[in-house]
Amino acid sequence: PGGTSKRDFLGFSPLDGNKIIELFDFSLFIKAQRKKDALQGSTPYRPIEGRTVAMIFNKPSLRTRVSFELGIHELGGYAVNLDGKSVGVNSREAVEDIAQLLSRYNDAIVARLHEHSVIEKLAEHASIPVINALTDLSHPCQILADAFTLYEKGLWKEGVKVVFVGDGNNVANSWIELAGILPIHFVLACPEDRQYFPDEKLLAEARKHARSTIEIIHDPLEAAKNADVLYTDVWTSMGQEDERAERLRVFRPYQINAELLKAASPSAVVMHCMPAHRGEEISAEVMDGPQSIIMDEAENRLHVQKALLVKLLNHDEYRKFHLTH
Ligand code: CP
Ligand code: NVA
Repeated sequence: PGGTSKRDFLGFSPLDGNKIIELFDFSLFIKAQRKKDALQGSTPYRPIEGRTVAMIFNKPSLRTRVSFELGIHELGGYAVNLDGKSVGVNSREAVEDIAQLLSRYNDAIVARLHEHSVIEKLAEHASIPVINALTDLSHPCQILADAFTLYEKGLWKEGVKVVFVGDGNNVANSWIELAGILPIHFVLACPEDRQYFPDEKLLAEARKHARSTIEIIHDPLEAAKNADVLYTDVWTSMGQEDERAERLRVFRPYQINAELLKAASPSAVVMHCMPAHRGEEISAEVMDGPQSIIMDEAENRLHVQKALLVKLLNHDEYRKFHLTH
C-alpha cells in the first residue's frame, strides 16, 4: 500500500474543470460496463482487484456507505468498514496515527468526519489516497454525482443555472467549489442570517473563476426564475440536531414546491442529495413528480465513485481508457 504519487479527493479546488469532464466520461464507461456485465455475464471489470479501502464513518450514512462499499466490491477490491465511534478519531487515537497505520494496511481511506481540518490532517499523514465522504465543510462526492447526472442527461452546458434553495451548508459549499472550476451560474437562496451563508473562503476562491456567476440572495422565487436545476438539501444537517426547531421556523419559506417549480424553466429538473423530508425542504408532489431526478443522482453516486476509485488507485488503467476512447 501507499506509493509516491498519491492523490486525494478532499474537494474540487485543486482540480481543473477538464479533469472533471474526463472523470464523467470514464463514469459513463463504468456505468455501461456494469450493465454489460450484468446482462452478458462477461468477465467482470475489476481494475482494483485485491486492493483494500478503509472506510471511517463518524456520522450516519445510507447512500455513501452503500455506494462505496458496493463500488469497491464490484471493482474487485475489499472495503473495511469502521464505525467512527469505535475508531475514536482524535479521542481513542490521534488522527496522524490512524493515517499512518491505515496506510500500512490499506490502499485508500474513505472518511466521513465532522471538522474538515481533521480530514486534511488525515490526508497529510496518510501515504495512501484519502477521499472526503462528507465533512461539515463539504461533500464533493455528492456534487460529483450531481453534475455527472446533468452531464449524462445532456443538461450540462456552460452557464447552466443551478439554484440551491435552503441552507448554505456543506452541499451548497461543494456546488460553490465546483463553480470555481467549471463555468456555471449558481444561485443560493438562503435566509438573511449569516449563519446560513456558505463558507466565505470557498466563496471568495470560487468567485475567481471568470466564467462562473455565483449569487447569494434571499428570495427563493426570485432565485428560481429560469432555473435549469432546482436543488435542495435538509434544513438541519447532521450535528445540528439541537437547532432543529429554530431551523424549521427559519427555513419554512425555502421549500421546493409546485409554486417554486413554476418559476423555473419549463424544462427544469429537481435535485436533492437525500435524505429528504417531504413537507419540509421539498413537497411530496415535487419530490415524486416528473421533473425530479433525485433517484438518478443517488444511483450515480455508485458510478462516479467507482470511476474516482479507479482514477486514484489504478491511474494507469484510467489513463489507458482516455488514450483509447
Ligand atoms: N447524500 C448522502 O451522502 O447520503 P448519506 O448521508 O445517506 O450517505
Ligand atoms: N447537509 C447534509 C447532507 C447529508 C448528505 C448533512 O450534512 O447532514
